[in-house]
Amino acid sequence: MNRLSTGIPRLDKKLQGGYPEGESILITGEPGTGKTILGIQFLHQACMEGKKCMMIATEETPEKILLHAKLLGFDLEPFFKENRLSIMRILEMRTSYTGISTDGSQYTGMHMDDLNNLTHLIADDAEAIVVDNIGTFSIGTDLRSFRDKLEELTYFLSTQKMTALLMMDKTAHELTYRISEYSTYGTIRLMVKENPYTGKMERFMYIPKMRGTRISLDPIIYDISDEGIKLSTTQGKKD
Ligand SMILES: Nc1ncnc2c1ncn2[C@@H]1O[C@H](COP(=O)(O)OP(=O)(O)O)[C@@H](O)[C@H]1O
Ligand SMILES: [Mg+2]
Repeated sequence: MNRLSTGIPRLDKKLQGGYPEGESILITGEPGTGKTILGIQFLHQACMEGKKCMMIATEETPEKILLHAKLLGFDLEPFFKENRLSIMRILEMRTSYTGISTDGSQYTGMHMDDLNNLTHLIADDAEAIVVDNIGTFSIGTDLRSFRDKLEELTYFLSTQKMTALLMMDKTAHELTYRISEYSTYGTIRLMVKENPYTGKMERFMYIPKMRGTRISLDPIIYDISDEGIKLSTTQGKKD
């Protein structure tokens, strides 16, 4: 199976090379756990490898995403300028249309119950996609309809051989009874928890599911620094 690098060397090793190509991976976690950063590192790496990339954001403007990426040492701006990377902002609207927000950035208005409408926004030649966050589309929608639309989206992405990270905030994930995990090829949960041995709060990720991949169910400790997300080794070394 072909894989796309996560942009985090040690995580690539844990996933036998990276995210399975042409599949959708669900990333869940509370605010501040690093979902957006994980997406940024994936897209930065894919852009560097010459892939056509796309970020669909419901929370942040393209300007903020570019700024946050730059602060962590992942300069996406050159890729954005040469159209290798497109960043689209989605706002909730009664009708679907494209407009300009007060900060001058372009956005697309969408019914938030229309998750499958995203397929119309995705460029035909996109190879690496991040949707941040699909939780927004579960609000005010019944469970059955949300699941059907998510299935349609992941089916579309898979037929187009597009590798996607679908971010979902933990609250929306819990409120939808974690059904998104059934519609996606793999799941990574980002968490913060107290280490019982040291009493310190630690970030760790848990990979309950990754089809076609040998995975360990042990928690993977990581850290977020000026250089983004890095995984700890058992010796506490980072890379
Ligand atoms: N330079 C940095 N050093 C340490 N932590 C950082 C740095 N930059 C960002 N972070 C951490 O990353 C978090 C934001 O990550 P983000 O990907 O936006 O989270 P999420 O998308 O899950 O809400 C911040 O709350 C902060 O704890
Ligand atoms: Mg985020």
